[in-house]
Amino acid sequence: MNIIDIINKTKKAQELTEDEINWLVKNYTDGGIPDYQMSAWLMAVCLNGLSEKETFALTAAMRDSGDVLKLDIPFTADKHSTGGVGDKTSLIIGPIVAACGVCVAKMSGRGLGHTGGTIDKLESIDGYRTDLSISEFEKVLKTTGFSIISQTGDLCPADKKMYALRNATGTVDSIPLICASIMSKKLAMNADVLVLDVKYGSGAFMKTKEDAEKLASLMEKVGRSAGKKCRAIVTDMNVPLGKNIGNALEVKEAIELLQGKSKGKLYDTCIELAAAMLELSGKGTECECRKLAEEAVSSGKALDILRETIKLHGGNEKVCDDTSLLPKPLLKYEIRATKDMVIKGFDCEELGMTSLLLGAGRLSKEDKLDMSAGIVMNCDIGDHVSADSVIMTLYSTVCSDFSDAAVRALNAVRFKITEKPSYT
Ligand code: URA
Repeated sequence: MNIIDIINKTKKAQELTEDEINWLVKNYTDGGIPDYQMSAWLMAVCLNGLSEKETFALTAAMRDSGDVLKLDIPFTADKHSTGGVGDKTSLIIGPIVAACGVCVAKMSGRGLGHTGGTIDKLESIDGYRTDLSISEFEKVLKTTGFSIISQTGDLCPADKKMYALRNATGTVDSIPLICASIMSKKLAMNADVLVLDVKYGSGAFMKTKEDAEKLASLMEKVGRSAGKKCRAIVTDMNVPLGKNIGNALEVKEAIELLQGKSKGKLYDTCIELAAAMLELSGKGTECECRKLAEEAVSSGKALDILRETIKLHGGNEKVCDDTSLLPKPLLKYEIRATKDMVIKGFDCEELGMTSLLLGAGRLSKEDKLDMSAGIVMNCDIGDHVSADSVIMTLYSTVCSDFSDAAVRALNAVRFKITEKPSYT
């Protein structure tokens, strides 16, 4: 086997064998194939795609490039979102599903660019440790049924290398490559049940619903071919999920939802995803599982699980009863309407970038975060706003000059009438 033949085959849209794909992934991970040749192959995939069979083989080869987790827990469920703005669903769904008797074991990442990361959100809770060892992770799971930690061990080294290369060579936006990248990591986590939240819209990788449906269907097939109970649900990321964007602000919103204080799109999405995890775990029909999930919130059981989990991670669990203990911003800035207007929509990517400029996100891995920073959306799509009412509020502690963030925030708002809002 040699790399030139493999590049040429994919360039001519000829199907690679499983052996060829295994050889490619192994040799690239070990350093035998240089970046420039792998880039050529990745670009050929971007242009010609891969067959389902090739995508299954690529995912399995990437999964097997490193450790596959074997927890001392008989049955676990996992949920993955393809990334969005204001997406705090893992903080809500995990405790709900655990309260219904299914263990949720998750490893998550940090945010980069316009999307946030669950690990950063959790670290906004004073003392919360995300770097538990596997035995500490198992201990929390056995006690509360829910834990989220940062990636540990040597999971999917092939993906680490390939994803970095794709980012540098314009080869991220390929459905089979995105599928193999995400699913290899999920399959290395080795949960029995896997629910995937595939997002489309301005804040998501997939800009159209059709592409999100293609990715969702492929991910489901890959998950099932690997022997997992797997379901992918396509959700809209043309509006932020919930009202708050930013680390501590999102934890606050998640806690308030578990306190039973809010309903709406965030609540509905969380119940739908939690019910899917419960149904695949054999807890009943879809309708019964929805009811179970709703009861976990209304009874306060899910909040109890979150409280106990935070405590076991070394965090200040009192935030579950008093969200004012979360980091508070020193500065705020209101984006107001200049005229009466109707809100037509938001550009979520711009909102994510606004939040980043306020200090809530990072452009490079080394950037430090302002846990208090972010945005609270004071309006929703379809709202009629009168002149001078607040459309959104920007918060920060580290960013004293709001002008760049305010310009991006204004850019993110779509109006039915021509006038733009001003900021004060
Ligand atoms: N997230 C990943 O982990 N991989 C991709 O390719 C895209 C999104």
